[in-house]
Amino acid sequence: MLTFEDDVPAGRGMAPGAMLGLQSVADAQRLAGAMPPARPLTGMPLAAKQAEAPAALRRVNVADKRIINGQTDVNQLVPFKYKWAWQKYLDSCANHWMPQEINMNRDIALWKDPKGLTDDERRIIKRNLGFFVTADSLAANNIVLGTYRHITAPECRQYLLRQAFEEAIHTHAYQYIVESLGLDESEIFNAYNEVESIRAKDVFLIPFIETLTDQNFVTGTPENDQKLLKSLIVFSCMMEGLFFYVGFTQILAMGRQNKMTGAAEQYQYILRDESMHCNFGIDLVNQLKMENPHLWTPAFREEIRELFKQAVELEYRYAEDTMPRGVLGLNAPMFKGYLRFIANRRCQQIGIDPLFSNEDNPFPWMSEMIDLKKERNFFETRVIEYQTGGALSWD
Ligand SMILES: [Fe+2]
Ligand SMILES: [Fe+2]
Repeated sequence: MLTFEDDVPAGRGMAPGAMLGLQSVADAQRLAGAMPPARPLTGMPLAAKQAEAPAALRRVNVADKRIINGQTDVNQLVPFKYKWAWQKYLDSCANHWMPQEINMNRDIALWKDPKGLTDDERRIIKRNLGFFVTADSLAANNIVLGTYRHITAPECRQYLLRQAFEEAIHTHAYQYIVESLGLDESEIFNAYNEVESIRAKDVFLIPFIETLTDQNFVTGTPENDQKLLKSLIVFSCMMEGLFFYVGFTQILAMGRQNKMTGAAEQYQYILRDESMHCNFGIDLVNQLKMENPHLWTPAFREEIRELFKQAVELEYRYAEDTMPRGVLGLNAPMFKGYLRFIANRRCQQIGIDPLFSNEDNPFPWMSEMIDLKKERNFFETRVIEYQTGGALSWD
């Protein structure tokens, strides 16, 4: 075992790119994308292949950093350019939570009590979990296998790594609820294949995931840069920013009536995370637009508006399917207004004209839920101490 007093053997830890096992300038040039291919090992963006000089050997000039198609070294986090992304990374870490911290005993007792919940309330819970148990895996795969490699700003990559972990925590939380309640795992985890209203939302998303995860897809042309931009908008504004909101509202409405309070608390933390994901995505989209104004054409904006209309329609169909009758003081038509209100807001946030006129928020209490502060705890069940460094020993 090496100690700090030991000499480092020649060829280890000294040369440029040594942390990646590089041995020579040629390897460093390959790292910079000047030489093909090596991308799967280094994580260099595809667009960097065209670099004229070995950027990995130059010091990073902050003015040269770009959200996409950048030529600066993606392994050098600083100097910071996109401070908003770094701040969101810090804020997300400060909001860390884990599903097992939330006590599910009351939910289990209520679920097992034959008179605890109505059939309509049980339907909502099963449909909800049916959508979310796979939705966050789709989101994680989209980040890790798609978005990440096309983004050339290391501050944004840092946030995306945190976001990917949060998606894993969300999948864990949904699995934890399914397990706690003793639901049929196969039924819930297959819902995205078997329940039409869930499947339709995922079928809408899949082409946009496939664009980014296609190994042959590279940015660097206006056409492909628009494809990337479109996928980013679909994910942040339509999936995380719209497709989650019927489900979140339903479970949080249940919690407000003192039912399924453990699940509701899990959803509160998830909603807070998702709200951050959506806001990061919006900042990313707006920065990308600012750096590449030629992508934001009238035809492109019209295409985005059409996609928003489809997304609202799909989420409304999901609302109807999950609430065939009024339940918990909610009904599907109330969500028509809510989804239009949210879609208008998302459009406005990325600089697109609102789609619908004069839509108000029928659920103003949802805004309070999104603004949940870490120290606030409605149900007082959380353990907020984390194990830090407990397994380390310097002996
Ligand atoms: Fe998530
Ligand atoms: Fe998310």
